[in-house]
Amino acid sequence: MTNFKLYSSYYDLLYKDKNYSAESEYVVAKLKKINPNIKTIIELGCGSGSHANFICKNNIEVTGIEQSQEMVNIAQLKNIIGFKPIVADISSYPKLDIEYDAAISLFHVISYLTDNVSLVNCFNVTRQNLKVGGLFLFDVWFSPAVYANQPETRIKKLEDDKVKITRIAQSVSNPVNNVVDVHFEVIIQDKQNNELTVINEVHPMRHFSIPEIELLAMQTGFEVIKTEEFLTKNTPSTNTWGVVFILKKI
Ligand SMILES: C[S@@+](CC[C@H](N)C(=O)[O-])C[C@H]1O[C@@H](n2cnc3c(N)ncnc32)[C@H](O)[C@@H]1O
Repeated sequence: MTNFKLYSSYYDLLYKDKNYSAESEYVVAKLKKINPNIKTIIELGCGSGSHANFICKNNIEVTGIEQSQEMVNIAQLKNIIGFKPIVADISSYPKLDIEYDAAISLFHVISYLTDNVSLVNCFNVTRQNLKVGGLFLFDVWFSPAVYANQPETRIKKLEDDKVKITRIAQSVSNPVNNVVDVHFEVIIQDKQNNELTVINEVHPMRHFSIPEIELLAMQTGFEVIKTEEFLTKNTPSTNTWGVVFILKKI
C-alpha cells in the first residue's frame, strides 16, 4: 500500500489546524471515565504521533502501530516520551510484550479497512493484545450520514515558510460496498524556486452502521458499550459524519 508515502511529508502541515490537543483530551476522558487506571494504550494507525504527543502527557504509555515507515520517521523526530511506534499493518501486527489497558484508532483509520477479512483480523489481533475488560475506542465514517449527505469536493490551502500547498479532495461513492473513494490531488509550490510538485492518491474509505459494528464486535469477542458523535458526544444521526465506538473485551 503506497498511500501516505509522499503525502506523509506534508501531513502535519495539512492538519496543522486540527485540534489534536482537544481530541486527545476527549479520548483520555472517555477511557478514564470507564477505567480510571488506564496506563497503557495501543494506537492503531498512529500516523505522525500527533495524538500520542498529548496522550503520553497523562502518564500513559502508547505503542503505535502504523503501516507507513515515512509517518513513523516523522513521529520519531518528535521524541515523544512514552511513545513507541512500530511499523506494521493493524490487521496483522504481532502479539506485543504486555496486555494493554486500551486500544485507540483515531481519524477514521478503521475506515481504511474496506474488506471484512482485514476488519475481523484487526479486531481479533487487537483483542489478543488487550487485558480482559480492555477498551477499544475508534471513530469511523457513519453510513447514515454518508447516504444522507453525499461527500463534496473540498479544497484546502495551507503554507509554511518553505511551501504553499493546495489540496483538492474529490469523492466518488460506491454505495453498494459501503466505500467512498477519496481522490486527493496535492499541489506543492516551493516558495524559493516556484517549482510545482503534484501528488495524487486515492484513499478508499469504508463507512459503517451501528448494527454492523455490533455484529463485528460480537464476532470478535467484544461488546459495544458506547456510541456517540466524536467530540460533541451527541447521539449519532444522519448528520453525524464521524462516530465513536467504545468496545470492551469480554
Ligand atoms: C488519516 S491518517 C490518521 C493518522 C493519525 N491517527 C492522526 O489522527 O493524525 C490514517 C493513518 O492510518 C494509517 N493506516 C491506514 N491503513 C493502515 C493499516 N492497514 N495498517 C496500519 N496503518 C494504517 C495510514 O498510514 C495513516 O498514517
